[in-house]
Amino acid sequence: MQKKIIIAVDGFSSTGKSTLAKDLAKKIGYGYIDTGAMYRAVTLYFLRHETDIADETAVAEALKNIEIDFQNIDGVNTTFLNGENVEKEIRKMYVSDFVSPVAAVSAVRRAMVKLQQAMGKKKGIVMDGRDIGTVVFPEAELKIFVTSDPKTRVDRRYAELQNKGLQADYEEVAKNLRERDHIDSTRADSPLRQAEDARVLDNTALTRAGQLALAEEWVSDRIK
Ligand code: DC
Repeated sequence: MQKKIIIAVDGFSSTGKSTLAKDLAKKIGYGYIDTGAMYRAVTLYFLRHETDIADETAVAEALKNIEIDFQNIDGVNTTFLNGENVEKEIRKMYVSDFVSPVAAVSAVRRAMVKLQQAMGKKKGIVMDGRDIGTVVFPEAELKIFVTSDPKTRVDRRYAELQNKGLQADYEEVAKNLRERDHIDSTRADSPLRQAEDARVLDNTALTRAGQLALAEEWVSDRIK
């Protein structure tokens, strides 16, 4: 049997990271873990319970009451928060607008990283996020850092929201991406950065199939 590895896929929002990670997991028969969805689920909980992120006690208490898991429903990786299917809700703009400040809270990160490490310990997974290759699995056998030019990213996120039937304004999407890039890469705890040993995949000019083929080659290199 081929050895199972951990594949970390990191990069800015809307670079096509999740599409690549999902496609790759499916192609090679690995599990897929969307860590952004976990931060989004925490954000949804905090919004619903009006948790003040500056209040450490309130944050700790809320985290104790949060259970996140994933289920495959009709082939779609689906996020559950305390047993409720929140997959659609966590993609809405009001959650996107608040997720970066929530993801910058150290107590939130510690709880999510612990969960992610437990989810990945059997290997054979593709995990996508911001700090997977640097913090969650610094020993991951393959690290991919996905990039694409800013306009392409806004176009993609806008199209994604429209396809899901969610209301979106192009300028608002662009502003949200800029703000999240800034917060995600300048936060004190685990800022988004490329791991030194990551391979950069710029997919601006690549098709979905093209980026998958490239990543597959890299996987073959690592499991040989
Ligand atoms: O990938 P996404 O856009 O769904 O992620 C939502 C937010 O969660 C993103 O703005 C940054 C944060 N995030 C993080 O801080 N660390 C991760 N491993 C994944 C996401």
